[in-house]
Amino acid sequence: MNDITLKEELLNTDLLFGQLWEISVDGMRLIDEEGIILLVNESFCKIFEMDKEHLLGKPFSIVYADDEQQDALKSFKRDIRHNKLKTLFERENRLWNERKAWLEFSNSFLVLPDGNKITLSIIKDISERKLSELELRESESKFKLLFNNANDAVFVSQITEGKSYGDFIEVNEVACSRLGYSKDEFLKLSPSAIISPKNINDFNNHLEALLSNGHVIYDTVYRARDKKLIPVEVNSHLFIFNNKPTILSIARDITERKQSEERLQRSSKLLRELAIHIQTIREEERTMIAQEIHDELGQVLTALKIHITLLSNKLNKDQEPLKEKINSVLDLIDSSVESVQKISTKLRPGILDELGLNAAIEWQSEEFEKLTNIFVSLVLPKDELNLDADKTTALFRIFQEALTNVARHSDANKVSVTLMKHHTNIYLEIRDNGKGITNDQIKDFKSLGIHGMKERAIVFGGDVIIEGISGKGTLVKVQIPAYEQLHEK
Ligand SMILES: Nc1ncnc2c1ncn2[C@@H]1O[C@H](COP(=O)(O)OP(=O)(O)OP(=O)(O)O)[C@@H](O)[C@H]1O
Ligand SMILES: [Mg+2]
Repeated sequence: MNDITLKEELLNTDLLFGQLWEISVDGMRLIDEEGIILLVNESFCKIFEMDKEHLLGKPFSIVYADDEQQDALKSFKRDIRHNKLKTLFERENRLWNERKAWLEFSNSFLVLPDGNKITLSIIKDISERKLSELELRESESKFKLLFNNANDAVFVSQITEGKSYGDFIEVNEVACSRLGYSKDEFLKLSPSAIISPKNINDFNNHLEALLSNGHVIYDTVYRARDKKLIPVEVNSHLFIFNNKPTILSIARDITERKQSEERLQRSSKLLRELAIHIQTIREEERTMIAQEIHDELGQVLTALKIHITLLSNKLNKDQEPLKEKINSVLDLIDSSVESVQKISTKLRPGILDELGLNAAIEWQSEEFEKLTNIFVSLVLPKDELNLDADKTTALFRIFQEALTNVARHSDANKVSVTLMKHHTNIYLEIRDNGKGITNDQIKDFKSLGIHGMKERAIVFGGDVIIEGISGKGTLVKVQIPAYEQLHEK
C-alpha cells in the first residue's frame, strides 16, 4: 500500500469522520507534517470565513494575516519536528481579513505506518467568552481600584454558623493605614478586635439588626493598634459570597463631626449656664429691690404719715380748710404705701419666701382672677412641698408666664391648675379652655416666653411640654425632679 492509498483509507474511516465531522460545531482540521490542509469541516470554514476549496491542499497558515503566515508555518514545522506541538492552548489570532479572533486549539497527533505525522485540530472560536472574561477582569480591577482608593475604610467579613462575626476576608488600604495593621495581620483578626471595649455590646447588637434587615448604619468607636480611639459611622450590608452570609462594612471617620458636636454641646451648655446665672442674679436683684422699696420707702412713708398726723392734731379748730388739705395728703400717703406694697410684691412676692409655693400660687391666682375675670380652679397638695428656693422660684415663674399667656393669647374663661408630687417628681399643669396654641407657635424659636419656661425646668433635669387643641385649649405640663439630680444638658 502506498502513502496515498493509506491516507485515503484513513481519511475515509467512519470512525474518524462520519457525520460527526460535518455536524460538529467546533472547527476541525487535518494537516500533514508540512502543515498542508488535508481536510476541514463546515464549522472551520465558518470560523475563518473561507471556502473549503480555498483551503484544501494549502498551508494551514493561509487563514492568518499575510504577515503572520510564514512565522506560523515555520514554528509549526519546528515544533512537529521536535514533537513539541502543544495539545491544548488558546491564542488571539489576526485572520486573513484582519479580524481578530480568540481561538482555542485542541491538537491530537497521529503517526501513520509510513512514519508520516498528521495533526487533527479541533478549533473553537472563544472570542465572546474572552471578551466577557476581559470585561469581568476590567470591572474587577475597577472595583479593586474603588475598594482601595475609597476615602473610607472598607471591610469584608463573614458570619460564622453560630451567627456571630467571623474573620475578615478582605480590607482596603485605608482600613490598614487608619488602624495600623497590615493586610495580612487584618486577615487574622476578628472584627471585634478593632472595636473599643466600651462599644462591644452595641457592636454585637448591630449584628442582629443586620441579620434581620440586611442593612444597618451605626456609630461606634474603633480602637487602632496603637490604642488610639477613632469614632466612626459604619454602613454595613449583608450579601452572599461563596454561599456564606458576608458583611461589607464602610466605616467613615467622624472624629471631626464628633468634635464639632462636642464643641456645640459645650457652647450650648455654657449658654445655658449663663442663662441660669442671669436668671439667678435677676431673681436676687428683684428680691433685694422689693425689700428695699418695701422697707425703706415703706418706713419713710409711715414716718411721714405719723409726722403729718401729729402736725394735723396741732392745728386749731379754725384751720379746717388746712386740715382737709392735710387729710388728702394723708390719703395720698396711704395710696403710696399701697403702691409700694404692690410694686414690691410684683417684683418678688414675699409670700413665696415666707409661705411657700402653694400659698404663692393661691395668691397669684386670686390676683389673676381679679385682673382678668378668668376663673381659676386650683388643685394643690395638702402640705407645702418644701422644695428648695430655686425650684420654688422656677415653678412659680413658669406658672406666672403660663397665666400671662392665658391672659394675653388664649381667649379662655377658665384655667385649671394642678400641682402635685408623684414619686420623685413635681408636676404642675396649667390648662385653659381657650383657642389652643398651634404646633408652629410651640416650635417657634422666637417664642421667648415658652423657651424661658423650658429653660427653667431643664436646669433641674425637668421639662415643659405644651400641647394645644384648636378650639379646646392649651395645656402646659411642667415636670421637675423633687430631689437633686445631676444633669448633663
Ligand atoms: N395659652 C395659650 N393659648 C393660645 N396661644 C398661646 C398660649 N400660650 C402661648 N400662645 C401662643 O404662643 C406664642 C408664644 O408664646 P410665648 O410666651 O413664647 O411668647 P409671647 O407670649 O408672645 O411673648 P413673651 O416673650 O412676652 O412671652 C404666643 O405668641 C401665642 O401666639
Ligand atoms: Mg408669653
